[in-house]
Parts: sequence; C-alpha cells; structure tokens
Amino acid sequence: MADKKAQLIIEGAAPVELPILTGTVGPDVIDVRSLTSTGRFTFDPGFMSTASCESKITYIDGDNGILLHRGYPIEQLAEKSDYLETCYLLLNGELPTAEQKAQFVSNVKNHTMVHEQLKTFFNGFRRDAHPMAVMCGVVGALSAFYHDSLDINNPQHREISAVRLVAKMPTLAAMVYKYSMGQPMMYPRNDLSYAENFLHMMFNTPCEIKPISPILAKAMDRIFILHADHEQNASTSTVRLAGSSGANPFACIAAGIAALWGPAHGGANEAVLTMLDEIGDVSNIDTFIAKAKDKNDPFKLMGFGHRVYKNRDPRATVMKQTCDEVLKELGIKNDPQLELAMRLEEIALTDPYFIERSLYPNVDFYSGIILKAIGIPTSMFTVIFALARTVGWISHWKEMLSSPYKIGRPRQLYTGYDSRDVSKLEDRK
Ligand code: SDX
Repeated sequence: MADKKAQLIIEGAAPVELPILTGTVGPDVIDVRSLTSTGRFTFDPGFMSTASCESKITYIDGDNGILLHRGYPIEQLAEKSDYLETCYLLLNGELPTAEQKAQFVSNVKNHTMVHEQLKTFFNGFRRDAHPMAVMCGVVGALSAFYHDSLDINNPQHREISAVRLVAKMPTLAAMVYKYSMGQPMMYPRNDLSYAENFLHMMFNTPCEIKPISPILAKAMDRIFILHADHEQNASTSTVRLAGSSGANPFACIAAGIAALWGPAHGGANEAVLTMLDEIGDVSNIDTFIAKAKDKNDPFKLMGFGHRVYKNRDPRATVMKQTCDEVLKELGIKNDPQLELAMRLEEIALTDPYFIERSLYPNVDFYSGIILKAIGIPTSMFTVIFALARTVGWISHWKEMLSSPYKIGRPRQLYTGYDSRDVSKLEDRK
C-alpha cells in the first residue's frame, strides 16, 4: 500500500520521507508515524485532514454523496435488506445467507431481555430526566452485569458483547421512554421482528397489546438502517478511543452515546424539530436564514451541513422518500412541519451562502418528521439514533481489537507558561 512517498523539507534539517498509503477507494493518506523522529508533531484540531485508523467497514465519498457499508450502497441496503441483515454485514463483513440470518436473528432474540435488577437503576433518575442522560447511565451499567464476558482479548467475549448490545438497545430505549411516561416497562417479544418488537415495547401496555402497523415497523427498520454506521464520526471515534484503553464494550458504547448527544452530532435530529417549531411559519424562514448566516449569531440551520458530505447526504434522500411514503400511508396530508422543512430546504439551497459552503440537508433533517409521525417524542430522537448506531460503534470496536492497536493518545501544541517558581502565598499580589 506504500509505493509512493511524500518529502517534507524542514529548513535546517534533512528532508523527511513519508510513505503515501493508498486505500481501495478514496484519498491517499500520508503516513506521518515516523514524524516523531524529527521532534515534531502534526497539528490538526478537529481532525479536519487526519485519518485516525484504517477500516474496512464504511466508505463515504463526500463529494459525490456516496455511502457504502462493506461496499454496498446505502440506497440498496435500505431497499433490499433489513436492519439485522445490515448489522450482520457491518459486524461480519458480508451479507448473511438465509441460514446465517436465521441464526443471527435467533441469537439476537435470545438476548433482548435485560437483568431484572437493571430496572432499579431507573429509579435514581427524575421522570423528566433527558432520555439520553438515562441511556448513558443504564448502558454503562450493563458492564456491571456481564463479568463473564468482559475479556476484550477473547474473540468469543467480543462476539457475545456485540450481540448483547444490538439485542438490548431497543429494550433499554423503550424502558427509558416508559420510565419517562410513568408506564410499566414492556418485556420484549420474540415472535416480533426487531423493529416491531421495539414499537411494541414503546407503545403497548400490559392493559392493551395492539398489533404493530407494518408500515410503521418498516419505516422504523429503514431509519435504523440509515443510522447504522458512518465511518469515523465523533461518536465512533470516541468509542474507538475508549476501546483503545482496554475499557469494556459497554463502557465504550456509553461513551459513544455521550458523544452522540451533542446538537452538532446526533442531537441534531431533536434540534431540527425544535428549530422548525421556533421558525413556526414559512414567513419567518428568511429571518432564520439570515441568523444562520450571521457570524455573530450562534444559530445554525440544524440538519444542514456535514464535515464530509459536500454534496447531498444520500441518507437524507432516502429519509425524505421514506417520509413521503409514511405520511402518505398514514393519510397525513400537508404535515405543517414537513411543508416548512421542504420550503426551508428550497430557500436555503438557492442561497449563495449555503451553495458556496456546500451545505445540504443531512441525515437529521427529515428523520424527526418520520419519528414524530410514528409517535416518538422529540426528546427520544437521539436515543433512536444511539440505538441504531450501536452496531456501527461495536463493529468499529471489534475491528480495532481484532488486529494490533495502540492506545490513542494525541499530542498538543503547548502555548502556556514555560517553567516558573511558586511564590509564597503572602508574596502573591
Ligand atoms: C451528524 O460525522 C458524521 O458522519 C456525523 C453523522 C453520522 O452519521 O455520524 O453524519 C451525523 O452528526 C450529522 C450532522 C448533524 N449536525 C447538524 O445538523 C448541526 C448543524 N450542522 C453544523 O453544526 C455543521 O455543519 C457540522 C457540525 C455538521 C459540520 O461542521 P464542520 O465540518 O466543522 O464545518 P464548519 O462548522 O467549519 O462549517 C463550514 C462553514 C462555516 O462558515 P465559514 O466559517 O466558512 O464562514 O459552513 C458554516 C460554518 O459557519 N456552516 C453552517 C452550518 N454548517 C456549517 N452555517 C449555518 N448552518 C449550518 N448548519
């Protein structure tokens, strides 16, 4: 992978040759690992031009709006597979055969319940706690229940932890919702599909078990697929960094949930609905566009822009199609928030500010409108994102641990004081 070289010329020093590595597709990278021999580091806050690892899981071509999971375009996975097939693909590298899928689904179903003691953890939270705060807590707490499989160097332990996390996230997410509602938590049902089971645990009660709408189950499954993985985003990088210290998988996923919560990342789906409510009416769009362009105003158009996509986020395109299908099949005509969102997109995409900066709708722009149509409250949107992204996080965690790795420990450019002496308290002015 390294037959090309870059040469670094530093004044007064011998030139430094750095290997250039080439991937299957995408930009070459300059391997700077030997740079420490020059007594210098690279400097790249926000990792704008830094590859932190090698991976085979997901590839994003931001300029052309392409997203591949193990080589398969997201549009095809969304149309021709379901979420558990996509989970199998991300975890194992290939789409499952019918037999492999049946076995994987059975494994997941055997792990959907959580330890009964875990329910008591919820009682420590106020009922009005943000669902993501509760998710961080209870997912991290899972490590207290699986002492039998926390040896991260044991491939079988890594495998069972991955299955447990994929299986239990819907159960925990629904428990978080039920706790906030003051309703009894529902047990998972093994006769339902993954998405049906989640909607069952969310919206059924012991008093009334309604059949799950196949339309809503399919839309939910599609949303899970669209959020499953996205290479080295902030939360996945957090999981990798936590995993590189040898932390157990449940702690690593809890760290990923915390990182995802931010409104610049997974918290954007909740922030989009809040923003649409704030805009209120098409007549106010110009005011908010002006705010988004004003450097002195911290307001950003939530659901717009992306570090990598400088073209349409292919997930947003599929999400918008799904949104139209779901609202139509539910008989929801002229959804005011959808109308407002579409008008906002239309206006923004004709504005030079957004065009020059390649700011297009991202995965979060339309997802909230579907989630709301399914009946999921805004405060639960990022929990849904975390549920779906868990398979991506744990796939990267597994990939990192499956070959030699080092603890992640970035360096810094230090601009603080040089060494100085401590003065006596009475002498300090
Ligand atoms: C996700 O990384 C991933 O893959 C994430 C994700 C995943 O699946 O894991 O795709 C999920 O997090 C999607 C993004 C969700 N976040 C939002 O929708 C929040 C709004 N978007 C922005 O905060 C922003 O676009 C980011 C955080 C998404 C990307 O920020 P970058 O790459 O650091 O870009 P930037 O902030 O440097 O923006 C470049 C310019 C700036 O203007 P100038 O300084 O050049 O004049 O574009 C402007 C920014 O001010 N800009 C915006 C904007 N996004 C960028 N201006 C107004 N509204 C916006 N939304």
